Amino acid sequence: MEETEIKRIYATYSRIYDFIFKRWFFPRQQHAIQSLKIYPGQRILDVGVGTGFSLPLYPRHAQVLGVDLSSKMLREAHKKVQQKRLEHVTLLEMDASHLAFPDSTFDIVIVAFVISVVPDPIQVLAEIKRVSKPEGQIVIINHFQSQNRLMAQLEKWVSPLCAKIGWRSDLALEYLVQHGDLHIDRKYSLNKVDLWKVIYATNNK
Ligand SMILES: C[S@@+](CC[C@H](N)C(=O)[O-])C[C@H]1O[C@@H](n2cnc3c(N)ncnc32)[C@H](O)[C@@H]1O
Repeated sequence: MEETEIKRIYATYSRIYDFIFKRWFFPRQQHAIQSLKIYPGQRILDVGVGTGFSLPLYPRHAQVLGVDLSSKMLREAHKKVQQKRLEHVTLLEMDASHLAFPDSTFDIVIVAFVISVVPDPIQVLAEIKRVSKPEGQIVIINHFQSQNRLMAQLEKWVSPLCAKIGWRSDLALEYLVQHGDLHIDRKYSLNKVDLWKVIYATNNK
């Protein structure tokens, strides 16, 4: 998907996004973020923060930055920041494949339901590793191609259709591990039939 197409799709979603997706995505974010040890003053980057329903999950003693390509998605996130007085949160419009932060800035980087939306996941992963501190935590929540050959083939077939509604369905976790040199510490799904995985990785740069 091209950047302009991604912006167009998520601008269309922005007002109805929470209504459609929150019930699916929020429990996974909640579980992942609540499993983290977040110390006072730590810097957290939420890449592709979207409408920001993850934002109230971060403790107020952390410094949280949320970035997104879509100004319309960010507008919804801004509303939450104001309504809930999330003074520890800053939001910026930014492309995840060119993050405007110095090297080794963040203790924790979270990228939830985004890595299969961007045109070049390896470039985004490289940027995440660059801005994350050495040994920093990287949390990826996403759908990855099934290990089952039949399902994997089906996901490949439907991927062009999925792209029309905002993501691809055939991104393999092994691809990120091999081409992005991702060092996975732990991975799990909330249940046996869950479509999404939570990946905890350590920045091995
Ligand atoms: C499926 S939504 C996920 C939003 C949020 N993380 C959540 O869990 O609800 C994908 C988000 O990624 C954003 N996005 C897509 N490409 C991006 C890029 N290159 N840089 C930053 N954000 C991007 C979209 O604008 C959208 O808000």
